[in-house]
Amino acid sequence: MSEYIPHEHDVLVIGAGGAGLRAAVEASAAGVKVAVITKSLLGKAHTVMAEGGVAAALGNVDDRDNWRVHFADTMRGGQYVNNWRMAELHAREAPARVRELEAWGALFDRTGDGRILQRNFGGHRYPRLAHVGDRTGLEMIRTLQDHGIHLGLDVFMEHTILRLLKDGDRIAGAFGYDRERGRFHLFRAKAVVLATGGIGRAYKITSNSWEYTGDGHALAYHAGASLMDMEFVQFHPTGMIWPPSVRGILVTEGVRGEGGVLRNRLGERFLFHDIPPLYVNQTAASEEEGWRYTQGDKNAKRPPELLTRDHVARCIRREVREGRGSPHGGVFLDIAWIKEKLPNAAEHIRKKLPSMYHQFKQLADIDITAEPMEVGPTTHYMMGGVRVDADSQMSDVPGLFAAGECAAGLHGANRLGGNSLSDLLVFGQRAGEYAARFARECPLPGVDAREVEAAERRALAPFGRSSSENPYSVQHRSQEVMQELVGIVRTEREMVEALERLRELHAAAERAGVDGNREYNNGWHTALDLDNLLAVSEMVARAALERKESRGAHFREDYPSKDEQCGKWNLVVRKGAGGEMEFTRVPIPPLRDELAAILREMQ
Ligand code: FUM
Repeated sequence: MSEYIPHEHDVLVIGAGGAGLRAAVEASAAGVKVAVITKSLLGKAHTVMAEGGVAAALGNVDDRDNWRVHFADTMRGGQYVNNWRMAELHAREAPARVRELEAWGALFDRTGDGRILQRNFGGHRYPRLAHVGDRTGLEMIRTLQDHGIHLGLDVFMEHTILRLLKDGDRIAGAFGYDRERGRFHLFRAKAVVLATGGIGRAYKITSNSWEYTGDGHALAYHAGASLMDMEFVQFHPTGMIWPPSVRGILVTEGVRGEGGVLRNRLGERFLFHDIPPLYVNQTAASEEEGWRYTQGDKNAKRPPELLTRDHVARCIRREVREGRGSPHGGVFLDIAWIKEKLPNAAEHIRKKLPSMYHQFKQLADIDITAEPMEVGPTTHYMMGGVRVDADSQMSDVPGLFAAGECAAGLHGANRLGGNSLSDLLVFGQRAGEYAARFARECPLPGVDAREVEAAERRALAPFGRSSSENPYSVQHRSQEVMQELVGIVRTEREMVEALERLRELHAAAERAGVDGNREYNNGWHTALDLDNLLAVSEMVARAALERKESRGAHFREDYPSKDEQCGKWNLVVRKGAGGEMEFTRVPIPPLRDELAAILREMQ
């Protein structure tokens, strides 16, 4: 018989980033009993890595902005394979969600006349990012936590979920352990919301911290839910690259939104050399025009540094590969140059970008008000995830919901900066509302003891292995495979090799043993994470192999163009009856007339 600590809730939220907290707040306010489980500590979520702002068409800085433009920008950024209903809901509801957050105490920067200030970001036609300096995600988490805590949520920190449990077809709860003592916990629940964030740790260079091992993606997959768009992984163009210990840490797009420019070793603004056709009409013709745009000139067009992330990241990679990179293998991001334009530039930079100032000063001994930063692409965000119903966020497993980064659809092939924070507010709220509704209408499901015992046996297996295979080494090798072979630019040959090596790593993970006992045993935790990490890595590689075109964040050197036919489907994966990954091309339904008209008009 299994030994575990039992818990019972109406709604179980797995993940305490913005999406999880927003869902928990909503469900709790609806009067059901809610638990939030976080692998780490409350307040430590990747949400804080969305620094530069939350996208919402408030129109405070440019009154030409509205939800229709935001919708069109999101669809164009996602290269039209987005779930258009999600893009619509997101664009329509983001302003209300931001104002609500303000009412709950979030302190946004202000315009001269006291409204929420908004800044420019890549791919957004107008200044749209409501922000708090460069600490927007942090302020959002703080606000949601403060608000949620008063609603009486049960919070389980440093708990990791290993398996979702089912009663027949529907969800029944989750099984996991606490990281401190290694005790098992059984959470029975009527509805479960996955809000576990992304898969950044599948790669070697990433802005994600240790928690982001694709847990929600893998949990949903093993529970029989469909996942979608796994080929679309976002590489943020600007992560720190030097010194090596800080490689991958995010350098907010807000730097470019405030006028920062990218240069190669020769001092060239190389992005001016390569403007994608979709954006030709929206891009500045000169450096001077680009500067005027960042300063709010409504007649100017955006500088190429504010093109979408997929494009900017690829251009940086090209500069480095062709020998025009910076000394440590990146390019230069320069905000200090604005002293040519603004008399109080240093003070302005410290005020607008306080975290960036301190980050570079403390970690790299660079004063960004006086010298350029060295930056390069870093794995930042997963567009792919659990396939959900747009309105309710329920997956195809009854009672299992997903929101935020671990859900797919809104962003299509490439996410616009700042749309992550609005995504988690809009769809966190919806997931919470619908999960509470579902919980109210259903009795508490039963739990299958055999399922629990199997999960427990699997969790303890690494202790019984005497192999010399080390879980850290397997993790490290798999991150290298993904970084080298399934990165920004992909080819069939490399991905086939990646799959072969991942297969070997799967076998190595099955052999990986750990010493010691269950009390705070990080080696054991790492061994348990491997399952998820390898599953999502394989899904990404297989999906990327299947999409024989280049679109958004997915660039195939062997198929460098977009293929119109490939723009008509999303790639869906689920676990087959024999345990194999089954991929299906699912047609994208035709746009509603009203939305199609918006896209035509905006083009
Ligand atoms: O660059 C940034 O501040 C990141 C924002 C985002 O990923 O949405």
